[in-house]
Amino acid sequence: MGLWTIRGGNRLYGTVQVQGAKNGVLPVLAACLVHNGISVLERVPRLRDVEYTLEILRCLDCKVRQEGDRVTVDSRNAQLREIPTFLMEQMRSSVLFLGAMAARFGEGAIHMPGGCLLGPRPVDLHLAALTKLGARIELGEKSISCLKSMLTGGEVVFPFPSVGATENAMLAACGCAGETVLRNCAKEPEIEDLAKFLCAAGVQITGAGTETIHIRPGKHNGTVCHRVLPDRIAGATLLCAAAACGGKLILREIICPHLKPVLDGLEEMGCNVKKQEDSVTLQSDGALWSPANEIITGTYPAFPTDAQPVMLAACLQADGVSVFRERIFSGRLAHAKQLRRFGGNICLTEDCSAVVTGVPRLHSANVEAHDLRGGAALLVAALQADGESHIVDHDRISRGYEFLDATLRQLGAEIDYTD
Ligand code: UD1
Repeated sequence: MGLWTIRGGNRLYGTVQVQGAKNGVLPVLAACLVHNGISVLERVPRLRDVEYTLEILRCLDCKVRQEGDRVTVDSRNAQLREIPTFLMEQMRSSVLFLGAMAARFGEGAIHMPGGCLLGPRPVDLHLAALTKLGARIELGEKSISCLKSMLTGGEVVFPFPSVGATENAMLAACGCAGETVLRNCAKEPEIEDLAKFLCAAGVQITGAGTETIHIRPGKHNGTVCHRVLPDRIAGATLLCAAAACGGKLILREIICPHLKPVLDGLEEMGCNVKKQEDSVTLQSDGALWSPANEIITGTYPAFPTDAQPVMLAACLQADGVSVFRERIFSGRLAHAKQLRRFGGNICLTEDCSAVVTGVPRLHSANVEAHDLRGGAALLVAALQADGESHIVDHDRISRGYEFLDATLRQLGAEIDYTD
């Protein structure tokens, strides 16, 4: 558990190099097991979820070395072992080790994964896809086993383009005897990044980032080097904070098209946004108006559900009425209750939407962060609010942001984090 102390009201000025993507590195780490060789990853963010995933790899007898933001995984002597329940429960992405173990060992068992509570998070699409590829799946009360199977490959049509299920199927497909075609896939940039790593490891993949992905297994035994893509959600968080507080923020090493709906929204709110090839500059006088269009979350390239909480927090003082429609996770407006403590005027509707009426000022509050992005939204609110706020963090915000307190301090915020 940690405690954030924030004295709000400062403008944010400066340049930040964006961290590597949490949701990008976690599937790539699972893919290091599939590679059966040496993988060298760069721009690996120093996050709790990464530490736990490296621990999972160590449990499977992989050799792991971490030096700054570079991680080396040698999975040549990996063995099929039980992954401790505690590690599985730390994050949602641990479920990807089912597909990775199926590909590497032809079998494997996992405890049900954890992750932020955002409403129901079933894994039916993951299991249906693996079954279609030839895996024999057995469900226990809290466990999933892939019994010794001959993975054949085949065609999977996802009823919904789930990010995790697409990644799990891609990993499993690498261990199949034949070719796999995945249809109605998630198109998120993290899928493309995973494909990039797997291609470097000798797998033939086409179509990643589109609805249809073709995977033909293959392998080379050399060393694979991969630089993790920049974190579009960490970038969105800093941009929303600077937009709401006012100031000038330059984000370096960001891929602007990945952030298009967020940048469009911030421009609609009156921010001056300048996009360059691998950076973006945002200038704001802190006096925002609400976005002209409703913010409707959806699968990529629609507005990312992970950026909805921080965008909503940036709209708390915006002039007018902002409407948010959450379409991915039914429980993803839980932060509204905590944001109201800062004086935010948020009305929730039964169809999972939030109507935010801008207020002239926010005041300090003592609140609790129960999920990662909802917690980040509380920080964005506290940074704008008058006076000193406290956020009790149930180890949530640190799951997704690297050196966030130091970064915000460097930009001029008065903020402290104590463990
Ligand atoms: C990933 C991201 C998460 C992001 C989400 C949507 C990681 C580690 N996490 O989560 O930050 O918010 O994508 O962009 O990358 N669903 C099912 N059955 C399944 C799988 C999913 O019904 O088997 C539903 C979920 O309940 C949810 C929706 O599909 O309503 C989207 O989930 P999915 O795309 O799978 O998200 P995650 O991979 O869990």
